[in-house]
Amino acid sequence: MPTHAPLPLILDCDPGIDDFVAILMILAAPERINLLGITVSGGNVPLHHTSQNALKACELAGRPDVKVYAGCPRPILRELVYEVEVYGETGLKGVDLPTPQMSLQSTHAVDFLIDTLMTTPKKITLATTGPLTNIAVAIVREPRILDNIEQIVTMGGSIELGNITPAAEFNFYADPEAAHVLYTSGKKITTIGLDTTHQLVTSLDWFDRLDALDNPVAHTLTLMLRAFYEYDMKHFGLTGGVLHDPSVIGYLLNPLLFKEKDVHVEIDTSFGIGRGRSIIDWWRKRGLPANAHVVNEVDVKGFFDLLTDLLASYGNKKQKAEGALT
Ligand code: BDR
Ligand code: CA
Repeated sequence: MPTHAPLPLILDCDPGIDDFVAILMILAAPERINLLGITVSGGNVPLHHTSQNALKACELAGRPDVKVYAGCPRPILRELVYEVEVYGETGLKGVDLPTPQMSLQSTHAVDFLIDTLMTTPKKITLATTGPLTNIAVAIVREPRILDNIEQIVTMGGSIELGNITPAAEFNFYADPEAAHVLYTSGKKITTIGLDTTHQLVTSLDWFDRLDALDNPVAHTLTLMLRAFYEYDMKHFGLTGGVLHDPSVIGYLLNPLLFKEKDVHVEIDTSFGIGRGRSIIDWWRKRGLPANAHVVNEVDVKGFFDLLTDLLASYGNKKQKAEGALT
């Protein structure tokens, strides 16, 4: 079988329970993804929590070598809106993980993005699961980084309804100007919005399957995901809690699980009721060139099988380590 070199990747995130799951998915697949660093912004909760939560995910995965860079604490304009009600005060409702032993890198996330992208011998993929401030500021400061970005896969937006306002999805609403910078950058942004992520809901049966994997990562995620299981049922009439951000990693590992269409996307940066909305021209009414691959469907069973297999591998890693000791 042909073997491919692991995909060079930077994850920009704001953990948050579902970002936390996304980090654990990446770290479960080192043979597929070469994680060059994690950049963090304020978002679901303030930056001091999101950055600590990224470190906690790395330690839980047994990967204290991963480099985590704190970035912008707030959006380009206005103040940040948090999602404390959804993910809890620290962003990781349902668990109380130990204070991380590993430290944040001293370099600012935007400097790391620019330095890495300006010196890389190979194009790098960016995965984004939070407000887009860090990436946008890096592009504004050094537009030449765009030449070395292989692709940008982003969780954000919605073809139809919003989740933070009637019109807007949280990540784009949190920093519409930043999202605007990306969608006008000349890169085609792979966009996984609420229409797709709302298909990826947890269930009590899946929690049992997850917990039965019987490894510390799976146990921790079971506790966390159970703690916000009912939020999306109550607020969005869904049958469980939504796994928004893991969709991005699922896409990178197996794009065939997803359906997408190339269309034009514009971000509403007005200050009215539509602020932060992604205006997705699904029927190509405007005749504008496509600036996005917009995903609208996912193979749900295929996704959950992939996710479960990745999380099961943490048991194998533990067994391997124990085997090495005997
Ligand atoms: C997005 O906002 C946050 O709630 C999640 O972490 C996800 O990135 C969904 O709208
Ligand atoms: Ca997020």
